[in-house]
Amino acid sequence: MNKPRVRLALFASGNGTNAEAIMNHFRHHPEVEVILLLSNNPEAFALERAKKFQVKTSVFTRQEFRDGHVLQQLKEAGATHIVLAGFLWLIPAELISAFRDHIVNIHPALLPKFGGKGMYGSRVHEAVKAAGDTQTGITIHLVNERYDEGRILFQAECEVLSSDTPDTIAAKVHALEYKHYPTVIEQWCLRRQPS
Ligand code: GAR
Repeated sequence: MNKPRVRLALFASGNGTNAEAIMNHFRHHPEVEVILLLSNNPEAFALERAKKFQVKTSVFTRQEFRDGHVLQQLKEAGATHIVLAGFLWLIPAELISAFRDHIVNIHPALLPKFGGKGMYGSRVHEAVKAAGDTQTGITIHLVNERYDEGRILFQAECEVLSSDTPDTIAAKVHALEYKHYPTVIEQWCLRRQPS
């Protein structure tokens, strides 16, 4: 059988429910394979999820992320695209240039609102609630040198009711993430237009 032409490396810092949805989506895909899950956090449950799918895992330090070690590892593994799935750290410029327009991220709000450094996971939903917004959603975007500023590929919205809490907002946003992130990644990495 031919080797899949798209080889995805996932980066995840925490629970990894998005990483799991992605690994599940591409499990038997003829053209796209998840080859590696990398994490900055040795305790990340995402690492356990990867083992279930027989996806190789690797944990790296901040030093290894910045000194080119992680880039080398990605090259050796033959990664063609990078998918951030709940990943906390800013991507070093060297890695961005090596994978220019080949790194995608998901953000749990409607960028440009509620983005930037420190806006991660539950903090984002708390900020949406505090602002009294009646809509939130997800943004899937390319990654550049600045937090949450790369070109937007896709957004989807959901309602925020006055009875919602940050936890119930998170549940709605997660449902949108699992529904859309794997298919948007598929269209993006195979260069089809999102429908
Ligand atoms: C997801 O909601 C993702 O959008 C968010 O972290 C969560 C990770 O959940 N990412 C960011 O906030 C990036 N700024 P998961 O580990 O269960 O996939």
